[in-house]
Amino acid sequence: MKRVPIAGPSITAKEIAYVQDAVANAWYDGAGAPVVRFEEAFATYLGRRHAVSLPSCTSGLHLALRALGIGPGDEVIVPDLTWIASSAPIAYVGATPVFADVDPDSLCATPESVRACLTPRTKAVIVVDLYGAMPDMAAIEAVTREAGVALIEDAAEAIGSSLDGRPAGTYGAFSAFSFHGSKTMTTGEGGMLVCDDHTLADRVDQLRDHGRRPGDRAFNNAEVAFKYKMSSLQAALGLAQLERIDELVALKRRLHGWYEDRLGDRSELRIYASPNPGVVWWMVTAQVDPEIGLDKDELQDRLAAVGIDTRPLFRPLSSLPAYADEPQAALARQRNDVAYRLSPYGLNLPSALSLSEGDVDRVCQELVSILAA
Ligand SMILES: Cc1ncc(COP(=O)(O)O)c(C=O)c1O
Repeated sequence: MKRVPIAGPSITAKEIAYVQDAVANAWYDGAGAPVVRFEEAFATYLGRRHAVSLPSCTSGLHLALRALGIGPGDEVIVPDLTWIASSAPIAYVGATPVFADVDPDSLCATPESVRACLTPRTKAVIVVDLYGAMPDMAAIEAVTREAGVALIEDAAEAIGSSLDGRPAGTYGAFSAFSFHGSKTMTTGEGGMLVCDDHTLADRVDQLRDHGRRPGDRAFNNAEVAFKYKMSSLQAALGLAQLERIDELVALKRRLHGWYEDRLGDRSELRIYASPNPGVVWWMVTAQVDPEIGLDKDELQDRLAAVGIDTRPLFRPLSSLPAYADEPQAALARQRNDVAYRLSPYGLNLPSALSLSEGDVDRVCQELVSILAA
């Protein structure tokens, strides 16, 4: 039985040629050239001044917090419903995560949920464009501006999305992207931190290179920092993917449309869609009607048995064993009704870029028949 994969990239002869060229030529005088080209092209694509390539989005969020001077005693607000990579870097800098509830339609934090988590110790808010959906950015920007705290956009999953014509990845002091192999564009593993402030960009550049000042050829490290760099081979792959970004985004839109056509008007499950036409769903996400009495674990097992891979909607971060001893998690468990209500019945459906309409047909037929049984 052919498995229907949950996620995966689209790789063509262009990507293979770019990586082959890098492996042959990105040494000696050519060392680093693909990295510079990829960073410049990515900044231009988004319309941000600076793009700093990194080994992951996680390292990007880490450096964003470090560059903003966030540390022990500080609180950072993060949505409760996201991948732990959005919140783990808060612990890396010794600060405390405060978990905000989410909106039932966008699955993202709301201005109200962020405001409810503000305290005098809040230093930053990390908003997440979950599965490619986008929160009410203008209102959240207003909340952070009024509170005098930094805004960081975790756009790991949101390349190609936009809100009122403004792309995901152009909000806040920093935005961070992931190029993990499951993402719409990939470098295998990799990430990019983008910003407009020259001083912050220089700071990140120094932090990612063991504390060497940008341009320092004397190996005269100014501080103990990190080794967070993207290789030329990854950057070459990223450049090829970026040159195909409109096509990759169109594939994601088409995939979501196939699911909506087949499942959009069913009552036993909801396919998340957005009133914002700029949203590009990285993962097609479904919510099963609790009345059916089938939770996501059971549904996933039944789909796996017929060769269909799915992923659970994220569990609230505050429910994870990783945060069992975190007092803020205990507060979030009391407060975050929406995250706790949605998580048990939500799952991501196969969203790989390799899927055909026939694959989606099969997924939808199996899903409907399991829910009808
Ligand atoms: C919302 C979100 N934030 C951050 C990350 C971290 O990305 P990376 O795996 O590149 O560190 C991911 C990756 O899956 C993610 O989905």
